[in-house]
Amino acid sequence: MARKQPAKGPFNLDLSLERNKGALIAILYDIQEHYRYLPEDVLKELAQKIGKPLIEIYRVATFYKLFSLKQRGRHQLKVCTGTACHVRGSERLVEEISKSLCVCRGETSADGEYSLDTVNCLGACALGPLVEVDGEYHGNTTPQSLKTILEKLKSGENKE
Ligand code: FES
Repeated sequence: MARKQPAKGPFNLDLSLERNKGALIAILYDIQEHYRYLPEDVLKELAQKIGKPLIEIYRVATFYKLFSLKQRGRHQLKVCTGTACHVRGSERLVEEISKSLCVCRGETSADGEYSLDTVNCLGACALGPLVEVDGEYHGNTTPQSLKTILEKLKSGENKE
């Protein structure tokens, strides 16, 4: 999939290097914030500029779950499939999201709009099943409430 240039304009790697005083994780965070993932060509440029082997940058980028080497959707959805959420029907929610947004688990939709991930625990088990949409938690999610959440997401009613 070709990389879409975010609406924010081109990423200024030099500015990030200067602002973060060469702190690799902070720079990677900036790159990911801008592109929603870590593009290979930007990582190569970063390696050149900071004089570190590319493999070292990949080692850090792959160690932290926060970072993604694959293009991510404009909207990020996470469904907790940990034990507490699983017994309350989280798998059905994964299937509903997958069907409704045409996105497979662990993937990004072909139009680049949605990414769907499953996680082991979001740390709020009493609220299960839990769905996170663009950083916002939706607890005690039912197939009916999920439908409303997804309709809002599709219509752009949720926050950007
Ligand atoms: S198991 Fe789902 S939030 Fe903990």
